[in-house]
Amino acid sequence: MAPVDLRSDTVTRPSPEMRAAMAAAEVGDDVFGEDPTVQALEARAADWVGHDAALFLPSGTMGNQIAMLAHCQRGDDVVVGEGAHSVLYESGGGGALAGVQFTVCGRGGHFSADELTACLRSEDPSGHVAPTGLVMVENTHNRGGGKIMDPEAFEAISLACQGADVPLHIDGARLANAAAGLGVPPTAWTARADSVTFCLSKGLGAPVGSVLCGSEGFIRRAHRYRKMLGGGMRQAGVLAAAGLHALEHHLDDLAHDHRRARALAEALAGLPGVSLDSAAVQTNIVIFTLTGMTPQALCAAVAPAVRVLPFGPQQVRAVFHRDVDDDGLARAIAAFQRALG
Ligand SMILES: Cc1ncc(COP(=O)(O)O)c(C=O)c1O
Repeated sequence: MAPVDLRSDTVTRPSPEMRAAMAAAEVGDDVFGEDPTVQALEARAADWVGHDAALFLPSGTMGNQIAMLAHCQRGDDVVVGEGAHSVLYESGGGGALAGVQFTVCGRGGHFSADELTACLRSEDPSGHVAPTGLVMVENTHNRGGGKIMDPEAFEAISLACQGADVPLHIDGARLANAAAGLGVPPTAWTARADSVTFCLSKGLGAPVGSVLCGSEGFIRRAHRYRKMLGGGMRQAGVLAAAGLHALEHHLDDLAHDHRRARALAEALAGLPGVSLDSAAVQTNIVIFTLTGMTPQALCAAVAPAVRVLPFGPQQVRAVFHRDVDDDGLARAIAAFQRALG
């Protein structure tokens, strides 16, 4: 029997229905603006987040990189939360491509408006200071254990950004999880942001793709940067069709991933050698701390039945997604009980 793969929500495989939608997609050359399925996905994505325009991209990383390129000047400062994907996992792209530096704000991934205000910087006459060119909020927060940004706290952040005339970008790789987790539409956050990127290839189950959304002017600039980065795709409708299918059929399923993540967390929290507040698990990601075994040893011990990843010197991460059902959850719990109990 294949192991239950909890390494990431990126490991899902397209369902037969999604593959059928991909096979049936009408396509054209999207670099010439002629792919009707890409256009349909972009229109639907823009509508979902309440922005004017959208751009289909190969990855969430490209979405964040283009956001920095399109919002910032070289030498600008970008304010992010602790453990931000853009700082840790985008291969140094912020510095290498957009020429920005980062200021890390707050603890645990998210930050308050007051903490943000203390980090914002404007240009000084002597030219010593790197002015803030962008504020980025990751929602949900991956290293923060799938934590949802509180919409009221986000509103206060957006007002601080407006007051300082600094654009606000959401790294919404798992924005759909945030929305499902609180039972609110994505506009609870996106209505107050200048741009947002969200992934189709994580919990939503598409094989490829992310969408960057914003104003018409921002997406025009983003379009040029996508080309510059080599992200112009031709008959991309076969991929966009998977994303459209996901937005039409998979959003409601995310609640099941969240329920299963919470159930695993509750089981783990009762095992010796595990430190975990299961009530803090809000979406599909479970990060727990080991007090005895090393993460590597635990990952090896459960490996025949479950695949999970070390996520720090004492941490392990398990991520639920649409290819793990209740039977997979039960097998995962049993494997952790055998290894730790
Ligand atoms: C919070 C966050 N942002 C961005 C990304 C990048 O997405 P991609 O893997 O499509 O480049 C990820 C990927 O896991 C992520 O977790």
